[in-house]
Amino acid sequence: MTDPSPLIAALRERLGPRVVTTDPERIAGWTTDWRGRWTGRTAALLEPRSTAEVQAIVRAAGDHRVPLVPQGGNSSMVGGATPDASGTALILSLRRMDAVRAIDPERRQVVVEAGMVLETLHARLLEAGLRLPLDLGARGSATLGGLASTNAGGTEVLRHGTMGAMVVGLEAVIAGGELLDTLSPLKKDNRGPRVDRLLVGGEGQFGVITALRLQLVAAPRDRASAWVAVDDPKAALELLRFCEARCGAIEGFELIPADVVAAAVAVMGVTPPIERAAWHVLVEAKGQGDPGTLAGALEAILGDALEAGLARDAVVARSEAQAEAFWRIRHSLSEAEKKHYGMANSHDVSVPVDAMPGFLKEVREAVEARWPGTSVSGYGHLGDGNIHLHVRAMDRACADWRETEGAAIERVVHDMVATHGGSISAEHGIGQMKRGEFARLGEPGRLQMLRALKAALDPAGIFNPGKLLP
Ligand code: MLT
Ligand code: ZN
Repeated sequence: MTDPSPLIAALRERLGPRVVTTDPERIAGWTTDWRGRWTGRTAALLEPRSTAEVQAIVRAAGDHRVPLVPQGGNSSMVGGATPDASGTALILSLRRMDAVRAIDPERRQVVVEAGMVLETLHARLLEAGLRLPLDLGARGSATLGGLASTNAGGTEVLRHGTMGAMVVGLEAVIAGGELLDTLSPLKKDNRGPRVDRLLVGGEGQFGVITALRLQLVAAPRDRASAWVAVDDPKAALELLRFCEARCGAIEGFELIPADVVAAAVAVMGVTPPIERAAWHVLVEAKGQGDPGTLAGALEAILGDALEAGLARDAVVARSEAQAEAFWRIRHSLSEAEKKHYGMANSHDVSVPVDAMPGFLKEVREAVEARWPGTSVSGYGHLGDGNIHLHVRAMDRACADWRETEGAAIERVVHDMVATHGGSISAEHGIGQMKRGEFARLGEPGRLQMLRALKAALDPAGIFNPGKLLP
């Protein structure tokens, strides 16, 4: 075990107490993950204000053989940004590096520092008539660096892809404090493979992202949101295909079961536009046409869908405020579910989109039969083949079941994911939570390459230990 004290003293001397804090009260908020599942320890929180300071920290950490846990908003769903319990690693927070370096309206690009919070960037871009087409519930805390390091998804992937699709280039500090800089707006650069892509979704294993050049789109002129009631996931999938065939502007298609909506009603005080439905769907369309055009189109499409028996009821938002209210419900689900039902045994999984209805049915039947008293529920990004599958104990008194049975349930769910040709991590990453399962089910070639890359690019094991790699 490496004692981090000499490194802390050296960094304090070099960068000052504003960058290096050992105050337990200030540190405390950053050592437990968002889910409250992993609490680690650290002797210091490092809060650099510039790339040069990150370089100094990484260089010194390498010299002292002290690991660093890069952290943005600490909103990882898989314990990807919290230190372990050994207390040897220091947290390297990027939150103070939150400047917009440049907005490039001609190319529709932005160069932004890693610590900027997604919601803040959205607001800045809107002023310039631009949009980063990525949104998720944690937008008020998730940082751009964290979103890139985890190749985050969210509710607009259907049309725009995951965060990685928006990364034009990046700046990162790699082992030894060297800088990797691909921030240039070059359209073509064929000097070998895109090594910077390793940091996108790399979960902080290969370096620390300090800035990003992101591809944007124009802020939409027109937007329509609809809340729809359907019978089951199969009907929802048919509805998705029906909508997509008639409208090229669909960018979100979220599926939510009744029990999860009920949680939001109970603890968030929200009123869903349709109260009684077995399954709810939230459809979003955005475009550059005249305001109101998409709402009209969506109304006509959903009218036809009702007639065709694909939907039971539908409400198209009448105003921007109503559309926002629909999405507030959607983005509150994770929090609402946790508050109402307690922490579930949760699985962020994907399967080919068309396989999702069958997968949901099979997994539910298998788990509920083998673990009587549990209930399997799933909500999320049906259009991406990505559902957040949650297994709950109906009797909250037996909250311990997650600890005792969790691993066995996880194996059953993941085996079924594998059978359906899916992924055990759709958009949340591997973090601490899925390392074991990644080792068990990851393709040998993928694991071999990742391990070799890690050994070559982080020989001293400085970057984010205990995450991603089995
Ligand atoms: C979501 O889609 O709401 C998030 O990915 C969070 C979750 O898995 O609950
Ligand atoms: Zn999600």
